[in-house]
Amino acid sequence: MGTTSTKPPEITVHRSLLKGLKIFDAERFRWLDEAAALGPLATLKLGPAKLHIVTDAEVAKNMLINNGAAWRRPPAAVIPIRIPIGENLFTQSDKAWNLFQPEVAPHFRKRAMESRLSEMDSIINDEVAALPYGTAIDLELAMGRLALMLAAWVLLGERLPRDRAEEIAFHQREMIGWVGKRMGQLRSVVPLAPSAKAMRAHAQVIKTYADEVIEKAKKRADPNGEHDVLDAMIHARPGGRPLSHDELRGHVLGMFLAGNETTAAALSWALAHGAQNPHEWNSVATNQSALTNAFIDETMRLSPAVWGFPRTPYKKATLVVGDIAATVRYGTVVTVYTRGINRRTDLWNDPLTFDPARQLTRTKEQERSMIPFGLGPRGCIGQHMAIAEMQAILPRLAQHGRIEIAQQIVEDPSFATRVQGGLKGTFVPR
Ligand code: HEM
Repeated sequence: MGTTSTKPPEITVHRSLLKGLKIFDAERFRWLDEAAALGPLATLKLGPAKLHIVTDAEVAKNMLINNGAAWRRPPAAVIPIRIPIGENLFTQSDKAWNLFQPEVAPHFRKRAMESRLSEMDSIINDEVAALPYGTAIDLELAMGRLALMLAAWVLLGERLPRDRAEEIAFHQREMIGWVGKRMGQLRSVVPLAPSAKAMRAHAQVIKTYADEVIEKAKKRADPNGEHDVLDAMIHARPGGRPLSHDELRGHVLGMFLAGNETTAAALSWALAHGAQNPHEWNSVATNQSALTNAFIDETMRLSPAVWGFPRTPYKKATLVVGDIAATVRYGTVVTVYTRGINRRTDLWNDPLTFDPARQLTRTKEQERSMIPFGLGPRGCIGQHMAIAEMQAILPRLAQHGRIEIAQQIVEDPSFATRVQGGLKGTFVPR
């Protein structure tokens, strides 16, 4: 006996593709939220093109783990990244990544990073102590600088001075802003726009830094010594040959892009929630790991640094939730909308309220629904590092003081979720 399935509910954004894309891009979260409100699988129509929105963690798991080999990152998500920094871990094809991943992934594991991670505290202490009191500072840039200094230390074995880190973090933020605006847009395939020139100048600053660290690492590389991620990349032989300088540089920049922007965004959102929830922020200052972790989890639930991740099938595929089934044609994009999953009213009581305590009593279903680092073979390779960094940084920031933020906080769905217009705030001593 066959079962009948129905098509997912649809919303027409516009009857023309170009206008539809423009309208969608102007208010991505509004359209994604409208689709999410229709159910776990819904479709946005932009002219003849469809964008499927998944807000069900089990469907996401099926796609990304069980059927991981059937899906890839769509060109519109990788081309805007390839333009400024070249091929890297994030943009590499699944085939190339399968060759490279076994050589580098072990070096991203917690145990491999342990000694570097344990030495992070002195960098964190110095940097947090240097944050001034009583004047509004660019918190997003400060978090970007800190994330960069820690990434340089843990991944590349480099102690990056504060002023250099600030300079690179600034250019990185500008470059990623350019990337974020173009991800998913048709314009992403037009690299000659005037703004691309400015973006290339920003990228050049980071490239120069990457060249320096690669040269240094090559000189010090001891084939039998302790390997960090950069050493592992230098010694890797994917497909039997070493990486060229350009390939190595692309990977260093790719790690910065995938790692720093996201970590800086996650820390910025933690500060924003800390400012609005002083009682919870005080609890982080006590440095009890359960309370810090609850604060981190709740930040990543309500304000996930990565708001969603897109996939497209290698060939026609089907997505099924209950009696709803979507046929996904070649070239069509499916977005796993984590921000939407995390705000489901059937999963979380009063989901728009920031309440770390709920994380201490969450159910298995709630726990399983939280996928801030993605899943499967192309999920986040740096998640242990990101969590270790946040666990070390947040109590120090909370001990440094209360935070006052005067601006209205609006989400900006860029490459990572940023605060629109940047996040400015003032530390006030306890
Ligand atoms: C709070 C911080 C972070 C968040 C929320 C985050 C989130 C994610 C997510 C959701 C993905 C998967 C995207 C997809 O499936 O298309 C991803 C991939 C990736 N992340 Fe992270 N990430 C964070 C920090 C880091 C750090 C510190 C690194 C260090 C290098 C890193 C490196 C990467 C790389 C290289 C990929 C691509 C892996 C691949 O293509 O196989 N991330 N991240």
